[in-house]
Amino acid sequence: MSIETATTPSFDYISQLIVRKSAIVIDPGKNYLVESRLLPVARAHGMASLDELVQALQKPGAVALVDEVVDAMTTNESSFFRDLHPFNALREEVIPSLISRRSKERVLNVWSNACSSGQEVYSIAMLIREHFPELAGWRVRLTATDLSKQILQKAQSGIYTQTEINRGLPMPMLLKYFQRDGMHWRISDEIRRMVEFKALNLIEPWPSMLPKMDIVFLRNVLIYFSVDTKKQILDKVHRVMQSDGALFLGGAESTMNLNVKFDRKIIGKATTYLPI
Ligand SMILES: C[S@@+](CC[C@H](N)C(=O)[O-])C[C@H]1O[C@@H](n2cnc3c(N)ncnc32)[C@H](O)[C@@H]1O
Repeated sequence: MSIETATTPSFDYISQLIVRKSAIVIDPGKNYLVESRLLPVARAHGMASLDELVQALQKPGAVALVDEVVDAMTTNESSFFRDLHPFNALREEVIPSLISRRSKERVLNVWSNACSSGQEVYSIAMLIREHFPELAGWRVRLTATDLSKQILQKAQSGIYTQTEINRGLPMPMLLKYFQRDGMHWRISDEIRRMVEFKALNLIEPWPSMLPKMDIVFLRNVLIYFSVDTKKQILDKVHRVMQSDGALFLGGAESTMNLNVKFDRKIIGKATTYLPI
């Protein structure tokens, strides 16, 4: 079976579908990206080209195929303690000050948004176990959400390759919180049980039962969206946050020029965004 490159209408159809379903903007000229991500999907369904895949996507009942295509267009790059500074800020200032401000309620809600394969939320869970034994009697709720059901399954399994482990996980934490599982490493049940994973598409309505969040990680996902979408999502994040909570964005992201209701605060080498 020969694999053919796609026609321009097929690329247009795919980029419109992706932006409608996920808000991810595929810039013109990124045809190579669409091809490298979607030709394997086409092949897996016995199709020889993206044009054929596009025809199949338009058939009634193609819901599962649409999900698969959107999933394949997400970038799931992540690592343990990614960029380190936000985690230092959590440990040195954000969590200690929340502990003193929430000492009556003894409740802490943390949201890892667009959590991908789970390294971010498990890093937060390990940091809490490691440095805040006083939270043992609290209701600490770590919610982790992503659009991609496939990546959520991986996150939930808590199983990582040696390469993933080598990227950012300190050796003492590996020894303390992971067990060998064949060629892989599996996170301990103690840490896994601290986290609740759920599917959530940032551009669809959010479940109303989300608790008010003290800490929100929304990192390395806004970069894929248009300015309008970034603004809408940050407005929604603002609404689900405690007024004295803290938001963390990715290193290449900021609220600059978005006219949203957050103040910037530098903690050590990290930038946090505080609801106004
Ligand atoms: C690069 S990863 C970021 C992972 C992690 N936050 C980090 O910084 O390491 C981006 C994630 O955003 C998710 N994503 C993309 N569009 C989304 C949307 N509309 N709603 C929810 N998640 C989305 C992708 O599935 C992917 O797992």
